[in-house]
Amino acid sequence: MNGEDEQFAVSSGETLMETLRGAGYYGVKNGCDEGVCGACNVILGDEGVTRSCLVPAASCDGAEVMTVEGLADDDGGLHPLQSAFLEHGAAQCSYCIPGVLLASYDLLQRNDEPTESEVADGLSGNICRCTGYVQQIEAVQAAADRLSGSDASSEGSG
Ligand code: FES
Ligand code: FES
Repeated sequence: MNGEDEQFAVSSGETLMETLRGAGYYGVKNGCDEGVCGACNVILGDEGVTRSCLVPAASCDGAEVMTVEGLADDDGGLHPLQSAFLEHGAAQCSYCIPGVLLASYDLLQRNDEPTESEVADGLSGNICRCTGYVQQIEAVQAAADRLSGSDASSEGSG
């Protein structure tokens, strides 16, 4: 879990979303409980971004799982995606945001310089009722620039 060894007691039929929320990983949101909204996204090993409400917890024995709680660094410093979402006003109620951040993280793992339409496609599995998505797409592209070092504003002006 987020780079640490962790064990969970799992009931028959329990989903990964239920297990994680039961263990205090409240960044895993239950938006629809049926695989539609993306609020419950986690990064599940090589499978990448995954809807945890559709995954039987018992099938995850030995899996590497990342939740939004694992995005910040060990000192609590925000991930560039989190900073960019703040700076671009890309979050309102924020219920969708953990899932959007993890979908964005997964996208940037595969494509470090996504176009606007590639970001929109990457976030197409996430429902946000508040923002209209424009600021979220801008934020993901800004984070991509920052992570690749092409964002002049991240270099500081003294
Ligand atoms: S809660 Fe899993 S996709 Fe909506
Ligand atoms: S910020 Fe409210 S649902 Fe996305």
